[in-house]
Amino acid sequence: MPVKKEEPAQCLNYRNKLILAPMVRVGTLPMRLLALEMGADIVYTEELIDLKLIKSIRRVNPALGTVDFVDPSDGTIVFRTCALEKSQLVLQMGTSDAARALAVGKLVQQDIAGLDINMGCPKEFSIKGGMGAALLSQPEKAAHILRNLCTNLDIPVTCKIRILPQVEDTIQLVRQLAATGIAAIGIHARTQAERPQHQPHPDVLRAVADAVDIPIIANGGSRDMHAYEDLYKFQRECGADSVMVARAAQINVSIFRKEGSLPMDEIIYKYLRLCVDYDNAAHNTKYCVQNILKELQESPRGKQFLQCQTLQQMCELWQLGDYCKRKQRELKAKGNLGRHDVVP
Ligand code: FNR
Repeated sequence: MPVKKEEPAQCLNYRNKLILAPMVRVGTLPMRLLALEMGADIVYTEELIDLKLIKSIRRVNPALGTVDFVDPSDGTIVFRTCALEKSQLVLQMGTSDAARALAVGKLVQQDIAGLDINMGCPKEFSIKGGMGAALLSQPEKAAHILRNLCTNLDIPVTCKIRILPQVEDTIQLVRQLAATGIAAIGIHARTQAERPQHQPHPDVLRAVADAVDIPIIANGGSRDMHAYEDLYKFQRECGADSVMVARAAQINVSIFRKEGSLPMDEIIYKYLRLCVDYDNAAHNTKYCVQNILKELQESPRGKQFLQCQTLQQMCELWQLGDYCKRKQRELKAKGNLGRHDVVP
């Protein structure tokens, strides 16, 4: 029987939503805020591993207006968020253990709107740890993790899976997971063995959506997403309640913009500004801008960009040099501790 819980007043609704997919290294605070500004309704964090989160320390950072979860061993920020995104933010966790997942859920639930469990990642690191797609072949364990979270947390819980090789098996798995009380299920329309170059299977998602009542979040359509309308096209093909976008948004986050995409330089400008405002790590900023630039990394400015090591240097290339200097001075004066300084 599904676990029935009273819905909190501001419970996240997963129907008719455009969603920024979880993406390691991409889905950090500046990109999530930019996706929301562009029109995304819900944004997922990158996958955060339970073992890392559980030992992190929650700190309010008044200088930045953020809440930081800090690794006490080296001072790195494991997860940074702020009030602006709270009502639309889903944290995705990698876990293989119900008790640990719940402990993390309790640690983070006051700062997020929903918690998602990654059950689709095919990478060796996840599979070896019994996480991600490893849970697809252990549905009892997957259901136990979800039921424990649904029963004991105050926020909605979801999971993100991949389809199984057989449609009927996929439907059965979704039914089994839905019965735990989860609020929605994200489904990547490819099997564990399939790679991004393979065609997704919207027909399988449609069959699942027809068979179950739980909101289905369709994912895996980026190959054919070049404009805003394409997001809805994929959602319709899948017969899904919502659509979740990864690669197409990684390259062009303004794909969420109803009024049409913005020029690449404008996206980079806006992104860099947010990186300055929230003191994003330079290596993470560089990685995300490289993904936006793609082959333009070969252009003269792209080549200059590849030489950059600091946020200041990157900002200089997009007419944000003075802004960065001023803002960093302000933040220092306000007492921003910086990414690597931790108060014991
Ligand atoms: C991913 N994906 C992914 N999935 C997930 O559940 N947790 C994660 O942390 C990540 N990380 C990640 C990083 C990067 C750079 C990419 C491109 C993808 C998979 C992603 O969420 C999505 O399921 C697939 O990319 C398919 O959707 P698209 O790309 O067709 O929209």
